[in-house]
Amino acid sequence: MTKIAVIGTGYVGLTTGTCFAHMGHEVVCADIDEDKIAILSSGKVPFVEDGLDRLVKECLESGKLRFVVGAKNAVADCEVAFLCVPTPQCANGSADLSFIEAATREIAALLPPGAIVVNKSTVPVGSTRVVEATLERPDVTVISNPEFLREGSAVGDFLGPDRIVIGSENQAAASKVSSLYLGISAPIVVTDPASAETIKYAANAFLATKLSFVNAIAAICEGVGADVSDVMRGLGYDNRIGPEFLRPGPGWGGSCLPKDTRAMVRIAKDAGYDFKLLRGVIEINEDQFDRVVDKLEAAVGGSLQGRNVAIWGLTFKAGTDDLRDSPSLTIASGLVGRGAVIRAYDPTVAADWDGGPSEIEIVDDPLVVCNGADVLAVLTEWDEFRSVSPRAVGERMENRAVVDARNCLDRALWQRHEFDYRGIGR
Ligand code: UGA
Repeated sequence: MTKIAVIGTGYVGLTTGTCFAHMGHEVVCADIDEDKIAILSSGKVPFVEDGLDRLVKECLESGKLRFVVGAKNAVADCEVAFLCVPTPQCANGSADLSFIEAATREIAALLPPGAIVVNKSTVPVGSTRVVEATLERPDVTVISNPEFLREGSAVGDFLGPDRIVIGSENQAAASKVSSLYLGISAPIVVTDPASAETIKYAANAFLATKLSFVNAIAAICEGVGADVSDVMRGLGYDNRIGPEFLRPGPGWGGSCLPKDTRAMVRIAKDAGYDFKLLRGVIEINEDQFDRVVDKLEAAVGGSLQGRNVAIWGLTFKAGTDDLRDSPSLTIASGLVGRGAVIRAYDPTVAADWDGGPSEIEIVDDPLVVCNGADVLAVLTEWDEFRSVSPRAVGERMENRAVVDARNCLDRALWQRHEFDYRGIGR
């Protein structure tokens, strides 16, 4: 059992702290947001993350998990402190380290002698050294231990990871942090801090590359009359390629891939390398948003001016309520730009939400949103969409047309109900 402090209770920090508590460690999680700490202390999780609320409750009850306001109140007797604060994007594409630096300054004088600080936030290569320099505590070792958690399946990813990466030149500290994961069966890659930090960016850049590649192949499939689902099945069985991350879509988004790919281009530039491949990957993704808008335009007969578009799904993927860098919102803005009138439904977005383009009307029912629509756009792959009756949808629409940007509906079924069905790459 180790005494652990976790600074930052976003989906990474909260999952990390809660899972460590679940594994038997004694964990204190800190955040600057007082309201959030009050909610968490009452056993509730203020965002959608499968299985996390149950685990938080369990660990609060066992006494293994506590929540406090302010980093300085979490570290007094910790052995290991995890930094899990956001690293938003600066105007020039690089990562903004101000939250990391502020948290580091706050805990510097309070860390017990010989403590270990672990950087879990996604930080530019070299940041482990920046944290070391900010701490000014030669007795404290700073380690990089990047996370590979996906929103929506973060708990499962934490407890069953593909690998654990630890970046440190101090062997004793690396062993101590490795030992926190005892009981989890996964290869542990111990390396230097710069390599660990690079692994994180390279992983997200590679995943984005895979997705843009898939979306590009989907576009070609449409041109040559192939079916991208079969093409990807044929690719995925190749062990060197693998079946994951081969689903075409409306473009990739979220709080990580867009930010990290842009940061990687910047890191490469600073290192003297023009990462043309990754710039192309980002460009293909931006084209993909436009391609979906084009498909919707074609589905209503060539002009979106004054046409009603019903949207199913606003979050950047299913299983989360996160709207950051969501392709749906970019596509909605593109539609509004071409004169369309938008109504949208998402199971996690309330009708009074006012965070998106102001022209979007949010409706709290997947059928009502289709009233009078000229076309339905499926932009997030929520399970519930698969079970909505196309007959009921068709009866409400002005025109039976659907653009399924996630290929998640039963195409044959919707066609049987006389829908003009357009998917991606099929
Ligand atoms: C991503 C990585 O998958 C995690 O490993 C990483 O830890 C995390 O970023 C991070 O850096 O913190 P996440 O942002 O939760 O996780 O989302 P993903 O599941 O990777 O999906 C990213 C985007 O790709 C979404 O818009 C999703 O809809 C899209 N996607 C994903 C597809 O279009 N097709 C697929 O087959 C898979």
